[in-house]
Amino acid sequence: MTEQDFIPKIYPKQVENGSVTWKSPSNIALVKYWGKKENQIPANPSISFTLDGCNTTTTVNFSQKESHQEYAFDVFLGGDLKESFKPKIETFFKRINTYLPFLKEYYFKIDTVNTFPHSSGIASSASGMSALALCLMSIEKMLNPDITEEYFNKKSSFLARLGSGSACRSIDGDLVVWGLHNEIEGSSDIFGIKYPFNVHENFKNYQDTILLVDKGEKPVSSTIGHGLMHNHPFAEQRFEQAHNNLSALIDVFKTGDLNGFVNIVESEALTLHAMMMCSMPYFILMKPNTLEIINKIWSYRKETGSKVCFTLDAGANVHVLYPKAEIEQVVQFIKNELVAHCENGQYICDQIGFGAKKIV
Ligand code: DP6
Repeated sequence: MTEQDFIPKIYPKQVENGSVTWKSPSNIALVKYWGKKENQIPANPSISFTLDGCNTTTTVNFSQKESHQEYAFDVFLGGDLKESFKPKIETFFKRINTYLPFLKEYYFKIDTVNTFPHSSGIASSASGMSALALCLMSIEKMLNPDITEEYFNKKSSFLARLGSGSACRSIDGDLVVWGLHNEIEGSSDIFGIKYPFNVHENFKNYQDTILLVDKGEKPVSSTIGHGLMHNHPFAEQRFEQAHNNLSALIDVFKTGDLNGFVNIVESEALTLHAMMMCSMPYFILMKPNTLEIINKIWSYRKETGSKVCFTLDAGANVHVLYPKAEIEQVVQFIKNELVAHCENGQYICDQIGFGAKKIV
């Protein structure tokens, strides 16, 4: 499929007003998306676990307006008007206008609520942009009820990607691949797909405890961070490595190889941070407590043979990943040893989820 497939023809129906609600999850990348080309095309393929408890619920109320000259919308977070969110959504609307030509015909009231604290340092762009994309697709489906579920999901992911790259991995499925990969049939640079191969029982119901090491604003936004991969001395090797790591994960998921999983996932996390440390300008996004936690996870694994591991996003917080079978021991270890390194002792227990849900 190409971009052209997402440009609608004339809509068979007219709708004056309505309301739609979607709840969409966050996700955590195992092989990281870091670096992009024009139009939100990723420099390498990525794969993520969809989360369950960390999500955004968005309701869009829409009503036809007289003038079709410009976009008209208001955004509320937890009931409060958020003027500061408007530029990002205006940019999003401009990027997707060709694919949703009705956008200028309506006034939209966008109400959004996150289950995780806004200032937690957990990015809300993946869940927020995917929830909004899904709401807009539900409106398109009212205008054209013939849209199939497959097209709906692909186009939702396609649109979400134009809001924030990682958001395209928050639509459907527990493991989602985004970006063309030669061993993954159906993979695409323009939308995410459900991981199409067998996944061993070991990886079902995987747990993710997010340790909030630093709840402050990140010193470098991910959009700027991606830009640092342009002319980066190690860019090409890194992009190739991501392809190889994704290939290796196919076998890991099939055979249930937990050691292989730990090695790839931790190496990806540290590579992401290494890329930032040696870009120009350079950044260190880990905090001393991030390193304390990593070292304690490594000691715990050595002492106990546990398969617990960590991954990082582009910040100081740590995602602690572990199989469901180890939940009791690992939660105890987290409480005993890791929580002390979290800001105000805050952490969020989550696990793999299965994708976004329409709320009726
Ligand atoms: C480190 O999706 O937030 O979390 O496309 O500019 O909105 P934009 O970037 P974003 O980048 C996420 C980067 C990451 C890795 C990942 O999720 O794959």
